[in-house]
Amino acid sequence: MLTLGIETSCDETAVALVRDGRLVGEKLSTQIDLHALFGGVVPEIASREHLRMLPRLFNELMDEYDVTPQMIDNIAVARGPGLLGSLLVGVSFAKGLALSTGASLVGVNHLWAHLLAAGLESELVFPALGLLVSGGHTHTYRIDSPTEFQLIGRTLDDAAGEAFDKVAKVLNFPYPGGRHVDKLAQETEPDTSLFPRAFIDNPSLDFSFSGLKTAVANYVNAHPELIFKEMADEAALDALSGERRAHLCRVCASFNWSVADTLRIKVERALKKNKGMKSLIVAGGVAANSMVRSTMQRVADAKRLQLTLPNLNLCTDNGAMIAYAGSLLAGEGLYHSLDLEAVPRGRV
Ligand code: KG4
Ligand code: ZN
Repeated sequence: MLTLGIETSCDETAVALVRDGRLVGEKLSTQIDLHALFGGVVPEIASREHLRMLPRLFNELMDEYDVTPQMIDNIAVARGPGLLGSLLVGVSFAKGLALSTGASLVGVNHLWAHLLAAGLESELVFPALGLLVSGGHTHTYRIDSPTEFQLIGRTLDDAAGEAFDKVAKVLNFPYPGGRHVDKLAQETEPDTSLFPRAFIDNPSLDFSFSGLKTAVANYVNAHPELIFKEMADEAALDALSGERRAHLCRVCASFNWSVADTLRIKVERALKKNKGMKSLIVAGGVAANSMVRSTMQRVADAKRLQLTLPNLNLCTDNGAMIAYAGSLLAGEGLYHSLDLEAVPRGRV
């Protein structure tokens, strides 16, 4: 069974082929440099760029792996959540291809695909507690099988990745800033009393990160020497030295700790409310964060759960996760008709 995956929900255009649960090959083009000029994703630019790149990447994938469109059994496409114009590029392409080849169409929930992605590398164990931490979402799920997801917690305001990106923006780091904050944070120990861990003194499984983001912004604005005058590039971050570097690293580490420890508290609480979980699956761009990874490893070890963390290239948006999730849905006989619609937000 050969499944093509198409991902165009935000600022990565990606295609991949999965055969019988294994990745055959993939192509990805990121728009990060285009959006970096504006400090965030510009929807109009994103959809135009998907339109330009998707047919190109698809042809390259077919050529490189010696596959013809007629050989594809299933066409899986991220149908949401995401930017409407961007999603429509992928969904329309998928429908056209399905119509012309007779392949089956499978609409995939982008968030579920993030959580299932690690199944390409190791066996997923259910029931699982899923923590999805990306630029747009912070969700916890009870996952009973690859097709049974129950949302049990979500952010009430900013997503974890959004908080990373906004803190990075205040400091004038390159966009998206999460990985730069992560890198500097690794150089020192956090000051755990510097920033708050918001919305933890209640029984809720929901998250709130906007107060933390504001606390960091207020701190940084009170220490303007920390802010780069012009947007820093990687070289500028590397070149920073002395007391200013040490201070900046402490701010990054302390903020990173507040996020990671908030995630820990909510995950532990979710595990208490959902007995019998066999594994903990952590996914999405922020699952690439080193402190989040080590914190979740400790949670899983203490609870004797299998921890499933995708490799770094599978954490951020990619086509392989869509192809893989689509192949699991197709394996259950779950297909869509050509009426499939993009679903930018809400229930996908
Ligand atoms: O899942 P993803 O690629 O795209 C969405 O669907 O949102 O996640 C992107 C997010 C961005 O906010 C980015 O800053 C963050 O993941 N991110 C990180 C790291 N790498 C990516 N955040 C913290 N530490 C990292 N190492
Ligand atoms: Zn994503």
